[in-house]
Amino acid sequence: MGKGYGFGKTILFGEHFVVYGLPAIASAIGSKTTAVVERSNSYELIDNRPETPGYKKEKFDEQKISNENIFRTMGIDMTKTPLRITLGGNLIAASGVGASAASCAAIARALNEEFNLDYDDNKINEIAYEGEKGYHGTPSGIDNAAAVFGGLIWYKKNPSGGQNIMERIQIKEPVEIVLGNTGITSSTSVVVGDVKKAKEANPEKFDRTFKDYEKLVNIARSDLNEFNLKKVGELMNQNHKLLQEIGVSCKELDFLVDVARRNGAYGAKLTGTGRGGLMIALTPGKKLQEKVANAIEKEGFSVFRTKIGAR
Ligand code: MEV
Repeated sequence: MGKGYGFGKTILFGEHFVVYGLPAIASAIGSKTTAVVERSNSYELIDNRPETPGYKKEKFDEQKISNENIFRTMGIDMTKTPLRITLGGNLIAASGVGASAASCAAIARALNEEFNLDYDDNKINEIAYEGEKGYHGTPSGIDNAAAVFGGLIWYKKNPSGGQNIMERIQIKEPVEIVLGNTGITSSTSVVVGDVKKAKEANPEKFDRTFKDYEKLVNIARSDLNEFNLKKVGELMNQNHKLLQEIGVSCKELDFLVDVARRNGAYGAKLTGTGRGGLMIALTPGKKLQEKVANAIEKEGFSVFRTKIGAR
């Protein structure tokens, strides 16, 4: 029997921009997906992850391609060594928390253990990246990096295909956040594809937005280092505005952002793919976290109370 895990993640700055080689900041969150692999008579996938209703069904075909990518990359032939794979853990399978990347990391680690392959985290990350391709053809790699390595990271994809940059960001202490769930499952490949089309149709506008974003994320990194959370929150608000400009927000996300800000969040924005999925609000301290979480729940949305920057 082999066992593995992958962390859920939230993107603090830079979803979508990261696809074009701009830096982004992500953090693993407290919840994990786990995978157990066991020898069996035929290939079987049992998915016991908690989910946003409809998520697993919607992602079923992509999950199949993803798993095949993982098996192929690891040289595992399911017809010769059939396995039962059981997914579980406390990470909800939903858009915006890196659910697909966490499951890729968990499966890769469990197979690594079962077949005594002795892969290190860098190799597991490469495999999880191949798995992520099943969910959307051209992932930046930020989700699988957060899922495999954990912690708070600065990530920059190399657009010409060379080595990506991943650096750890250290902060004084973990910070409370609230993730508000729209309950809408979005397709990363569709949304990423739409951004590409919009960029091609309006290159000058996107150039300006990209430049504004790049300035913002560099300041955000220093503010995080200095633990200047009020400023980090303001920059998250600005980042949300830029994400609205490139067309990846939706009325439910804008509503959650608004509720969080009205209830004292230092900043709030969509996180992940957008057009559904999750909103992240920066809410340092248990008291503020509770206030924002309760306000969102009162509006009928589910929330996760968690922290960024924990190792
Ligand atoms: C999805 O969590 C993040 C996106 O930027 C896609 C990617 O980075 O591959 C939307």
